Amino acid sequence: MRILVTGGAGFIGSNFLNLFVPRHPEHTFVCLDKLTYAGNPLSLSDIQGAENFTLEVADVADAEVVTRIFSEFRPDVVVHFAAESHVDRSIHDPGEFVRTNVVGTLQLLNASRAIWKGSATGRFHHVSTDEVYGSLRDDGTFTEESRYDPSSPYAASKASSDHLVRAFHRTYGLPVTITNCSNNYGPRQAPEKLIPLTILNALEGRELPVYGTGGNCRDWLYVDDHCEAIWTVIERGQVGQTYNVGGNEERTNIDVVRTLCQLVAQQTGRPAADVLGLIRFVEDRPGHDWRYAVDSSKLKRELGWEPTLHFAEGLARTLAWYVANPSWVKAVQAGEHQEWLKKNYDRRLKTARDATERP
Ligand code: NAD
Ligand code: TYD
Repeated sequence: MRILVTGGAGFIGSNFLNLFVPRHPEHTFVCLDKLTYAGNPLSLSDIQGAENFTLEVADVADAEVVTRIFSEFRPDVVVHFAAESHVDRSIHDPGEFVRTNVVGTLQLLNASRAIWKGSATGRFHHVSTDEVYGSLRDDGTFTEESRYDPSSPYAASKASSDHLVRAFHRTYGLPVTITNCSNNYGPRQAPEKLIPLTILNALEGRELPVYGTGGNCRDWLYVDDHCEAIWTVIERGQVGQTYNVGGNEERTNIDVVRTLCQLVAQQTGRPAADVLGLIRFVEDRPGHDWRYAVDSSKLKRELGWEPTLHFAEGLARTLAWYVANPSWVKAVQAGEHQEWLKKNYDRRLKTARDATERP
């Protein structure tokens, strides 16, 4: 098979390629990635020389370039990861999220339709998020039947792209599948997201921002388990179907941050109290979803997938990866995006300090 992976230089896409390029020498993989601040060629260094792998630097929203790549490579399978993926950035500047996540998905659907020409061959697999379902209160889980109710511009753009993918199936018979997954963590995730941000700040002795009360809850899944779920759906999933993917590992944010502090203390030999003392409760995210929890029983029942790695083990592995890869960390921290992030967190931390200093 010829497999086109969009966004393969990002967090999940690079883990997907690092798993499946060596495991499947019989397949050819092309990674189509714009290499935005979130795309890192270093994340692909282990497979860069592989005979069955090529990187094409391109924008999914550029119809002309996408058409050229599709007509040259003629993929049998498209695995669509490319997206703007950070909720805080989407609150700051939603336009880029619509361009990449909505228009970009449309261009890929058009190109897939043009090369597969209404035949049942081919597969467009869309990688999406549980955030399209909005927020849960303290009980219940998201199923594939849950109502779409996105809160952030990021979630709204992903919801919109899900609708386009489904519409291309119903209208043109395009062979599509969709997965809606909970929060991923693991190696190669940019330190704008909670877990890598906390790990690197704690290792370097910087303050650890926790939004609001820290009571918001996420369902965590180790990235390799997500990649295996996607591969399972591509191989055996039913065309036109959506599958939810979750980790069954619900944790409040403060619980996650405290656990990471303990792990970092063990790793560095610093007293746990010192690392825990870096925690700062900062201004909350507007529209902050309270809780996500995903019911993935359909994927287990129909295709036999379930998560394999427990959260404690996954966090320890993730910390070990960041400690063992200082050149990756250094390259990411040198990126100009860090300036934006630093300003964002400095502002939040300052608001928190002002609040505690008030009499
Ligand atoms: P990421 O931000 O780490 O990576 C995104 C990748 O897409 C980067 O390599 C970037 O360069 C590339 N990209 C961005 N705009 C592009 C464009 N216009 N053209 C081509 N490439 C472009 O994201 P991630 O965390 O790896 O997420 C991948 C996918 O999985 C996204 O679609 C996201 O919505 C979905 N998802 C993520 C999570 C999670 O917890 N991270 C959970 C569920 C679903
Ligand atoms: P994040 O990793 O941005 O993923 P998402 O918003 O897609 O769930 O955030 C995970 C949770 O952690 C979310 O509830 C916001 C919170 N959070 C913090 O408390 N502090 C931080 O510095 C970050 C980045 C997130």
